[in-house]
Formats: sequence, C-alpha cells, structure tokens
Amino acid sequence: MTKHTKGEVVLQVTNVALTYDRPILRDINFCIKNIVRPGLSQGQVVTLIGRSGIGKTQLFKILSGLQSPTAGQVTIHNNKPVKAGDMGVIFQNYYLFEWRTVYQSLLLAAKKNKALFGMEKQTIEQYAEQFHLTGHLQLYPKQLSGGQRQRVSIMQQLLKGSDFILLDEPFSGLDVCMLDKAVELLLQVSLSDELKTLIIVSHDIETSVAISDTVFILGNEPDKAGATIKKEIDLIERDLAWQKDIKQEKRFLETISEIKNEL
Ligand SMILES: Nc1ncnc2c1ncn2[C@@H]1O[C@H](COP(=O)(O)OP(=O)(O)OP(=O)(O)O)[C@@H](O)[C@H]1O
Ligand SMILES: [Mg+2]
Repeated sequence: MTKHTKGEVVLQVTNVALTYDRPILRDINFCIKNIVRPGLSQGQVVTLIGRSGIGKTQLFKILSGLQSPTAGQVTIHNNKPVKAGDMGVIFQNYYLFEWRTVYQSLLLAAKKNKALFGMEKQTIEQYAEQFHLTGHLQLYPKQLSGGQRQRVSIMQQLLKGSDFILLDEPFSGLDVCMLDKAVELLLQVSLSDELKTLIIVSHDIETSVAISDTVFILGNEPDKAGATIKKEIDLIERDLAWQKDIKQEKRFLETISEIKNEL
C-alpha cells in the first residue's frame, strides 16, 4: 500500500435526510479526511456512484450548501456548517453566464481567487490552451458546443480556487482525447493543494474510480424508503489509488464489478 496517513476531517456529513413528497435520502453519514503523503501535497478525490434517479444530484446540492436537508447537517473544516459559495460546483447542465464572453466569465472567476492576484490573464490563457479553448475566449456560451461549454464550466471552478470542487457528470460529452485531458487536469488540481477535495458523480465508473482514492455507493436497502450510503470502498487500502494505467489491472476490474453489483 502507498505510504500515507489520514489526518483531520475536511468534510463531515451527519444524519442527512431529504424528503419531498417521499423520502429521497436518509441516514447519510460519512466523512472525508485529509490524506497526507510524505513529500507530496496530496488532495482527496472521492467518487459518488449510484443509479440514475437515486439522489446523487440532490446530495450534491446538500453537500455544496445550495440546498438544506430535511434533517442532519454538512460541515467543513473545523465543524463549520457549509454554506452556498463555499464549494465550486460544476452542474450536470453546465450553467454559464449567457451574456458574458467566455473570457469575461473566466476573469470573474479568477478574480475571486486571491492566490491568482496579478496572474489572472496568464492563468486563463494557460488553462485555455490545455483545454483547447484558446480560439473561443471571445465567444458567447451560445456559440459553443456542449463539450466546449463543459470545459469552460470546469475551468471556471478551477480558477475560483475553492478547496472543494463538486463535479456532476464531468466526463459526459467529452471525446476520448478530451477525456484524457480532463482526467489529467483533475489529477493536477488534486495535487495542487493538500486540502483540495474533489467529489465526482459520474456514470463513467471506470474513469472516475481510476482517479479516486475513495468510492461511496449510494443505493437503496431492502424495506427502507430513501437512498443511503450502502458501501464505502477505500481504494488506497486496495492499492488501487494514485496509479497510472490502473484501468487494465485485474484487481481494478474486480473492484469495478463489485461496484456494479451493488447498484
Ligand atoms: N423538487 C423536487 N421535488 C420532488 N422530487 C424531486 C425534486 N427534485 C428531484 N426529485 C426526485 O429526487 C430523486 C433524485 O433525483 P437526482 O436528480 O438527485 O437523481 P440522480 O441520482 O442525480 O440521477 P441522474 O444520474 O439521472 O442524474 C428523483 O427521483 C427525482 O424525481
Ligand atoms: Mg444527477
């Protein structure tokens, strides 16, 4: 197993429940701890997996403070209740400011990040190059393809520099080449700061698990209404985290089958 320790809790979910006309989520309890690796600034990458309609996006909204749960609470760093704006959220539908050019939107995001002070323009240009958007900075969102909107949306949240970044289906709509780039960039982001924590929801189980250190499975249990965390898989313990080309390994594929069987 790769040498590491787990330190303080960076995010704690306690007894979260959500009910509309029927229970959607119940008894959600989990925490994410700061992973420390000697000689590295290692962030956390967590994947949340569950069937379509199970409640992943609802849980996302609760984690990010955009929606209050019916019961329970979410706290970050030192027991502070999470509030809207604490986390960078990349939604399934890539919401963008339609009346601003891509560059204007990105600049607004970069200006929220004090660490980028004075380097906003050059950082945007650098990211734009990595994401193949250099020629699109002066366009408006309606002039972009779906995949381009998504990349702008990811860049926007990366530029803001929040410790927590939530990504709902970040890999859908990307072609193979862009998928590799997105994965590379997310890994780069997770390594940029020890406290950086990425939480990913994706139907592309192989890709999201391959870049994660922990998997949470959201599902139903017999005779209970509402979904809950059915299983937590520590990929570090299984020696499946932080390894390039893990997707071909037999033990990785066994874990993928195990996850699919839980859904
Ligand atoms: N405002 C609402 N009122 C009532 N029910 C709602 C509301 N919003 C969502 N739901 C229900 O909550 C459940 C979970 O929805 P959610 O969008 O979280 O699913 P999901 O796991 O993200 O699915 P997908 O993978 O398809 O995106 C669904 O059954 C949905 O119908
Ligand atoms: Mg969803």
